[in-house]
Amino acid sequence: VKITRTIADLVTTLEPLRGGSIGLVPTMGAFHAGHLSLFDAARKENDALVVSMFVNPTQFGAGEDFERYPRSEERDLELAEQAEVDVLFAPTADEVFPPGFQSWVEVENLGRGLEGDARPGHFRGVATVCLKLFNLVRPDRAYFGQKDAQQAAVIRRMVRDLDVPVEIRVLPTIRDEDGLALSSRNAYLSPEERERALALPRALATRDPERARDLLRDLDVEYVEVADFDPSVLAAAVRVGSTRLIDNVVLEGESP
Ligand code: PAF
Repeated sequence: VKITRTIADLVTTLEPLRGGSIGLVPTMGAFHAGHLSLFDAARKENDALVVSMFVNPTQFGAGEDFERYPRSEERDLELAEQAEVDVLFAPTADEVFPPGFQSWVEVENLGRGLEGDARPGHFRGVATVCLKLFNLVRPDRAYFGQKDAQQAAVIRRMVRDLDVPVEIRVLPTIRDEDGLALSSRNAYLSPEERERALALPRALATRDPERARDLLRDLDVEYVEVADFDPSVLAAAVRVGSTRLIDNVVLEGESP
């Protein structure tokens, strides 16, 4: 795996790979089996695999977990090596958002409600960084997890609206044996909190918002809602201690 930290180095490194197809997996690092499943698909479907690893400050609100978001670069590099990642782009915040930066992508309707309401400005940060990554890497395909269903819907819409020539691939949520959806934020949970967090996948598995709300009554629930993304999902956000978790299940249409 070739590690690039600057845009100039990324662009030069990608030049010889442009003869074949490129798959991009945008990440914030702290790799888990969910990321590895995206790497695996991208590896199979493209000639070259590019992974970005960037904890994007612009998608975190004031008082959110930007500072404490898990960072494990050494381990991530090993996993990237094993997954046969060709190019890893791990820039600094100033490289991506240099002083004077002031251009943003706003996906209006899909960026509202659920996560958009709970985390104002979140999808503006996500859409902007993803558009920048698409412009820099110019991938044939980009890979996202169904766990962030609204994020996937926002990115799909942005790509369609702005004619970005990339195919968006959304792959199923990967769960631990106990049903908890894999997330880098699970690392914040104590064993007791993790036990309580299992109410989330159990509630969503009912695929019924009323029953799910009832099963979640002992947790601090932010929302439990059916969302008309493509496909429709039953989505929820809860707080367990100081950790905010989101999850969803697909209700209809094609899986994920
Ligand atoms: O899902 C994530 O890890 C992030 O939101 C993404 C897509 C890498 C953008 O920073």
